[in-house]
Amino acid sequence: MTHIRKAIPEDRQVIIKYVSDMIGGSDQVEVAVKEVDKFFQQSCYSVYIAEVDSIPIGFESVKNDSIEGADAVSEIVFTYIDDKHRRKGAGSELVRGIELDFKNQGIQKLYTKVNISNIRAACFWISQGYQFESRLLRLNQGIDYYVLGKEL
Ligand SMILES: CC(C)(COP(=O)(O)OP(=O)(O)OC[C@H]1O[C@@H](n2cnc3c(N)ncnc32)[C@H](O)[C@@H]1OP(=O)(O)O)[C@@H](O)C(=O)NCCC(=O)NCCS
Repeated sequence: MTHIRKAIPEDRQVIIKYVSDMIGGSDQVEVAVKEVDKFFQQSCYSVYIAEVDSIPIGFESVKNDSIEGADAVSEIVFTYIDDKHRRKGAGSELVRGIELDFKNQGIQKLYTKVNISNIRAACFWISQGYQFESRLLRLNQGIDYYVLGKEL
């Protein structure tokens, strides 16, 4: 069974591995280290670990971000489940866990961005009740992203 908990500093290395895997490219570890250090250093980030039998199998980071001055909206920045553990419901449990936590903190809406070529992730978010809101053109390295959102 998947257990969801807040990340602790000892999780840093495993999260760097996950982020590096998602980013890819020749400088992936360097970029991942910078990203993950932000998660632990900046109070706007909340990071969660999914684990099975006390062993991490994935993570999710959420940024309390005020878009255009909006209140009570946060962004899911990264969601990752180790490939050996995919399609067993762990990603869904992770998302359900953070939705509950953020709802309890007064957050009314979560949104996330998905690279338009990541069809599997788009299917995942739609299965979690996230709805297409917009398409961001050439957001990152010339790649378009979908914005998907869900009212909590
Ligand atoms: C996206 C990701 C987090 C999903 O985690 P997961 O634990 O496999 O997800 P779940 O098992 O809870 O899947 C729930 C539902 O999402 C959909 N889904 C998940 N993976 C899918 C895939 N590869 N293709 C199509 N639909 C998929 C299905 O509807 C699935 O339900 P089903 O298995 O009963 O058909 C995982 O595949 C992952 O880490 N991918 C790499 C990183 C990534 O792309 N992250 C998202 C960036 S925006």
